Order: sequence, then C-alpha cells, then structure tokens
Amino acid sequence: MSKILVTGGAGFIGSNFVHHLVERTDADVTVLDKLTYAASREALDVLPAERVTLVVGDIADADVVDPLVAEADAVVHFAAESHNDNSLDDPSPFVQTNLVGTFTLLEAVRRHGTRFHHVSTDEVYGDLALDDPQRFTETTPYNPSSPYSSTKAGSDLLVRAWVRSFGVAATISNCSNNYGPFQHIEKFIPRQITNVLDGRRPRLYGQGTNVRDWIHTADHSSAVLTILERGRVGETYLIGADGEESNRDVVETLLELMGQPSDAYDLVTDRPGHDLRYAIDSSKLRAELGWEPRFTDFRSGLAATIDWYRDNEAWWRPHKETVEARYAEAGQ
Ligand code: NAD
Ligand code: DAU
Repeated sequence: MSKILVTGGAGFIGSNFVHHLVERTDADVTVLDKLTYAASREALDVLPAERVTLVVGDIADADVVDPLVAEADAVVHFAAESHNDNSLDDPSPFVQTNLVGTFTLLEAVRRHGTRFHHVSTDEVYGDLALDDPQRFTETTPYNPSSPYSSTKAGSDLLVRAWVRSFGVAATISNCSNNYGPFQHIEKFIPRQITNVLDGRRPRLYGQGTNVRDWIHTADHSSAVLTILERGRVGETYLIGADGEESNRDVVETLLELMGQPSDAYDLVTDRPGHDLRYAIDSSKLRAELGWEPRFTDFRSGLAATIDWYRDNEAWWRPHKETVEARYAEAGQ
C-alpha cells in the first residue's frame, strides 16, 4: 500500500495514526478532514510535506471523496463526531458525519475496489455491570446507548452490509477509551488536567464510579496498522490494553501526580444515560495477528500526558473558556 487516505487525520487519534504511518511505513498519506472544532492542523504540521497532504473537505461530499478514493490503495476511516456529551445536545451532525459520511465512503470504495478499514468504538456494545466478569468480545450483541454510539453502531452495520452484499474489502476495529497528546480538552482526562493547571477542581459525573478501559493512543495506532496490513477482510477486531479504571481513581491519580490533595474534586450532574462500564477482551487481535500494547503503565502514561498539556498550553488555551462555558450550562 503506497498511497493511504486517512479520514479525520487532523483529529486526536487520526493524527497520531498519520505520525505512525510516516514513521513505520513508506506510504504517502492524504488526510481528508473537514477541520471541525475538534481538529488540529498543528498535529500534522511537523510531518514532511512530501509524505503528507491535507485536503480540507467533508466525508459526506461524494464529489470530494470519489477522486481521493480513486487514487488510494487503502482508506482508513477515523473521521467522526466523537463526543457523547455533544451528541446529547445536538445529534444531527453525528447522524450526518457518522452515518451519511461512512455511507459516502463505502460507495466510493465499492466503485473503486479499494481496501477499507473502519475505526469504531467499544461503545457500540452498550455497557457492563461493575461486577460483571464478562468483557466485550467480537460476538457481543450491539446495544448502544447514546446518539454518538448509536451512529457509530449504525456505521459498523453499514460496513458489514457492504462487505456481505457488495464484497467490499473492509475490516472493522472497536477500541476502548484513548488518552494521550492532542486530545481535545472537552474529553475527560485533558479536561481535568487543564482544570488543575488552571486552579479549578476536576469534575466527576455522578459518583465517579463509572469505569473506562484506557489505552494509549499510540497503541491504538499500532493495532489499526496491524489490522490494515494483516487483518482478515470481513473481520472485526476489538482493541484494548486491559486498562480498566474508575473515573474517580483516574482523577485521584491525576491529582496526586499534580501535587494536589487526592480528594480535591467535585461531584457534578451525571450524564443522561451514562454507560457504567466498558471492558475489552482483545484476545482475537493478540492471538491472530500477534499485536501487543506497549504503553500499559497507565500511571506513567498519565504523567507524560500531564507534562504534554503543561508544555502545550498555547494549543489548548484558546478552547478552554468555550468548553467550560458549555459544561457550566449543563451543571457539569
Ligand atoms: P476527534 O473528534 O478528535 O477527531 C475527529 C476528526 O474528524 C476531526 O479532525 C474532525 O475535523 C474530523 N471530522 C469530523 N467530521 C468530519 C467530516 N464530516 N468530514 C471530514 N472530517 C470530519 O475524534 P477521535 O477521538 O480522534 O476519534 C477518531 C475516531 O476513533 C472516531 O471514529 C471515534 O469514533 C473512534 N474512537 C475514538 C475513541 C476515543 O477514545 N477517542 C475510542 C475508540 C474509537
Ligand atoms: O469507549 C470509547 C469512547 O471513549 C469513544 O468512542 C469516544 O469517542 C470517546 O469520547 C470516549 O467516550 P466517553 O464518553 O467514555 O469519554 P469521555 O472522555 O467523554 O468521558 C470518560 C468518562 O468520564 C465517562 O464516564 C464520563 C466521565 N466524565 C467526563 C467528563 C468530560 C466525567 O466524569 N467528567 C467530565 O468532565
């Protein structure tokens, strides 16, 4: 694969993947990104211009998508509206981008016979009880809770149907919660880090007992490249790094690492329909393709992430007031 089209490559995980491609392969990369509020050109700026081209455009615009897909050997599809809280305020861009956008890409790869990898989320499976010994596997039934996760579930089903009905050469991955540099400060970990840097207290929804299964974004990237190169067409692979933590534990660790008392947080209004727990069993990916996560020490990953936000205030500062004003309206 010498030409790879990456949708959403200016976002948090997509940009990390573009860096990974440049470092680990000889491929030329075209990024198709609409540059929504969540995008960051800066994340791509340091990459060699002869290897990476940014096209600003919408994945739901067939006239933009078709010629880019025609030129590519493979498409890796990250572009999405990605934040649950926003989907509760206004689901419409989620339906448009996550469903219509994915449909538009599928029609293009069908026309041109292009290999397609669809990046999705563990949230399509709904949630687990805190004491459930089971984790999500590739055969767990779909049961999404939010407008965000239901549009991602719908997009996965479109991909499956295009594989079966039209023979599109696609794979799907469903990954757990990512953390690392360049994550938008609306998301949990960077919101709390930047709160503490600003002298504000972290905000935990509900009682803070909800559990997420954390993976460093660099491990997500290596898993997606592994699946793109060696995954079996038509298959789904779950990506996770055995990183279950309650939100309260994450905040307490973060406060301790930042030199604050570990109880210096506030409990705030819960998210409506808040999923209780996600947990991934990634044995299929590990056994079949030999993938292993590398950044499994969550505490040191969190410490490095705190350092990154401390060192890159110019990147996040322009968004902080707007993000906090939106949360304040929701009592969060
Ligand atoms: P993000 O919100 O940081 O980035 C999304 C990117 O997509 C942005 O650059 C944005 O400009 C672009 N985009 C949005 N709408 C577009 C459109 N219509 N056309 C072209 N570009 C558009 O998201 P992220 O956290 O990096 O997530 C990337 C993908 O990974 C998503 O598909 C998400 O569902 C999936 N995922 C995320 C996580 C996580 O923890 N963040 C975990 C599992 C899966
Ligand atoms: O599981 C994968 C998913 O992880 C991805 O598909 C989504 O794109 C990504 O946004 C993420 O979804 P979550 O809803 O789990 O992530 P978020 O960062 O919004 O919240 C993580 C947890 O922290 C969740 O239980 C809600 C809680 N939370 C969040 C914020 C912003 C708080 O307690 N306080 C907060 O201020």
